[in-house]
Amino acid sequence: MARILITSAIPYINGIKHLGNLIGSQLPADLYARYLRGRGNEVMFLCATDEHGTPAELAAAKAGKPVAEYCADMYEVQADIAKRFGMSFDHFGRSSSEQNKTLTQHFAGKLDDAGLIRKVSEKQVYSNADGRFLPDRYIEGTCPNCGYERARGDQCENCTKQLDPTDLIEPRSAISGSTDLEVRETKHLYLRQSAMKDQLDAWIDSKKDWPILTTSIAKKWLHDGDGLQDRGITRDLDWGVPVKKGDQVWPGMEGKVFYVWFDAPIEYIACAKEWADANGRTDADWERWWRTDKGADDVRYVQFMGKDNVPFHTLSFPATILGTNTYNEESGSSERWKLVDYIKSFNYLNYDGGQFSTSQGRGVFMDQALEILPADYWRWWLLSHAPESSDSEFTWENFQQSVNKDLADVLGNFVSRITKFCRSKFGEVVPEGGANGDREQALIDELSKRVRAYEAHMEAMEVRKSAQELRAIWVAGNEYLQAAAPWSTFKEDPEQAAAQVRLGLNLIRLYAVLSAPFIPEASAKMLSAMNTLDTSWPDDVAAALDALPAGHAFTVPDVLFAKITDEQREDWQSRFAGQRD
Ligand code: MF3
Ligand code: ZN
Repeated sequence: MARILITSAIPYINGIKHLGNLIGSQLPADLYARYLRGRGNEVMFLCATDEHGTPAELAAAKAGKPVAEYCADMYEVQADIAKRFGMSFDHFGRSSSEQNKTLTQHFAGKLDDAGLIRKVSEKQVYSNADGRFLPDRYIEGTCPNCGYERARGDQCENCTKQLDPTDLIEPRSAISGSTDLEVRETKHLYLRQSAMKDQLDAWIDSKKDWPILTTSIAKKWLHDGDGLQDRGITRDLDWGVPVKKGDQVWPGMEGKVFYVWFDAPIEYIACAKEWADANGRTDADWERWWRTDKGADDVRYVQFMGKDNVPFHTLSFPATILGTNTYNEESGSSERWKLVDYIKSFNYLNYDGGQFSTSQGRGVFMDQALEILPADYWRWWLLSHAPESSDSEFTWENFQQSVNKDLADVLGNFVSRITKFCRSKFGEVVPEGGANGDREQALIDELSKRVRAYEAHMEAMEVRKSAQELRAIWVAGNEYLQAAAPWSTFKEDPEQAAAQVRLGLNLIRLYAVLSAPFIPEASAKMLSAMNTLDTSWPDDVAAALDALPAGHAFTVPDVLFAKITDEQREDWQSRFAGQRD
């Protein structure tokens, strides 16, 4: 039994996320968390809302609410939708929590003590038309690195380069579109990442098991051009974590807040403290996940995120942790924080020939998806088409096909046929008599191999391969049923038919256990129909297929998955063709 800490990139508070966001971090993280728990491991799965920064301020203004109120409301909305999608977070926190304020200020203080923070008088873009400084994302212009014309001030979406707003060529305000911008002088704190370059470099080099896609992004920013740059970690905004050291306002930093990308990853840690505080636990209970000097040295920490998040998780956040730990080591303090052990990153999911877009309201959003169909339909399609090795695309045709074939024809049909047949011939009880023959043994052998392969893919976080293997496991059962044909066997040899049906009913329980990480609701329905609480993992497939003994009562479940009709598909296709209002 191992201890695994799992975090999903924390979604921005401003608005409901689309399916591309969901499959880019939360959903695969949930798959992994559910799988590991199912195998008996101790898991801490954390996520939160990312509430600070300009996007939250602007969205609140648009909604006509004070920003704190807007965030509190949107937090409830996001928490509710995540729950309805089956996200099994141990805690869903908020980056605006007191816990995160305290920790963010704590880390900044430690980094300052270590000499890793310097004050920089910087020139920043001020918009006369908007009457405010325009930080990061609210300046748009041409990327100096790749020439993309709609690059934002914090990052170019096209080439992933992290930017400063003043780097942009031909800048304009993203709020008003105004080009009446001027540069004003303002003071900010910078984290001296350049001083940590060698340390970060060595740390990345030590990650031999990380995909090249991940390490190459880190290496690029470590070595390209002038190498790793120092980063501004404060902003001229009202909404955020006040720049304080201990109880004192940081000299010269009055009225400023930490940059959202500084406090957001610290929320991964603060979230564990929120979990402890909300559940009557002690500090020791959360620190054993995060403090390597307090028991977290045997924790494996895995992060899930979209590819645009990789630089922040391979460089910026590790710089915060490494800088703090190094200082503590030198000053003789025992305080040591956990660094990530593995990063699972995703490409983008596109929508019907273009991109999902929050700003343009393009695609299917999480709330809309659940209005149409239950979570499992979406979970299955998204996970089995996860954009792992390349971008992938959602089309309604493909969605209809997957749901109808995999879920309705293969899994759903299997469950329905075997339970109904049993009811008609033997009643709603696992029949007795007969014994397994060659055909049954061949199925058990095949399933044993496939279950081991499934475990290997799940452990490696190979999401698509895991889905493929699970589907093959379902198909094997269907083919067995087709070939064994208990409805024919029954006429000549009811005992043999009884053995076949007994195996089939046990397969339903096995499928429920194996499929739970992908389709938790359907899995629960299958278990409840099989009238069992036995969710033990099939370490031994043959034994697992004996779990429900003759005489065990069950019920025929309702239809597990309804097919998507052509009419529905066309209807949804046109409903989602335009923009969301
Ligand atoms: N809100 C960011 C995004 O959606 C992710 C923040 S992840 C964290 O891209 F590490 F900063 F927490
Ligand atoms: Zn670019």
